[in-house]
Amino acid sequence: MRNIAIFASGTGTNAERIISYFQAGNTARVRLILCNKSTAGVVERAKKYGIECQIFSPAELKETSLVLDWLEEYEIDYIVLAGFLLLLPSVIIDRYGDRIVNIHPSLLPKFGGKGMYGERVHAAVIEAGESRSGITIHHVNGQLDEGAVIFQAEVPVLPGDTPETLAARIHELEYTHYPRIIEQEILKIQ
Ligand code: GAR
Repeated sequence: MRNIAIFASGTGTNAERIISYFQAGNTARVRLILCNKSTAGVVERAKKYGIECQIFSPAELKETSLVLDWLEEYEIDYIVLAGFLLLLPSVIIDRYGDRIVNIHPSLLPKFGGKGMYGERVHAAVIEAGESRSGITIHHVNGQLDEGAVIFQAEVPVLPGDTPETLAARIHELEYTHYPRIIEQEILKIQ
């Protein structure tokens, strides 16, 4: 049984789907939620499932070994980013290598990089007149949204879409694919 840590900054609907997906199987379990905001929705969701949650500041993540120490203490094998808005420091990336995965709500390399998160991404996609959008699940390499792509899936952008309606369609795609792709990647760990 592998131990997963999820890093999240916001509402945590993906984190919740991942927690319940792994509760139903025996490949892995979500052992720890790591969050940079004590008021984030993900904190309450973690509680609901009895998952431990640790909160840290951006400075603690960047300048101290606090988070790396938790990863060791909780014996974390695999790191999942789910709506996490800070860059992971290189000490964590070096330690975990290919065992870190992120999801981004667009078809990277389009609409990625600094400032591109959540509904800002969907607003930019609509503004650009794109006919397709989607999700990208990728490894994490220290450059924002630039790690090797593992999986992509598409949805249409419909006439009259708002950032909210497009976000809802993309969230469904995330819930369908992210937990199973994480499981597929964990099964590759030696
Ligand atoms: C998700 O759509 C995820 O793809 C996106 O934030 C949302 C988090 O929703 N991530 C990024 O934009 C990363 N650049 P959630 O908190 O409800 O899971």
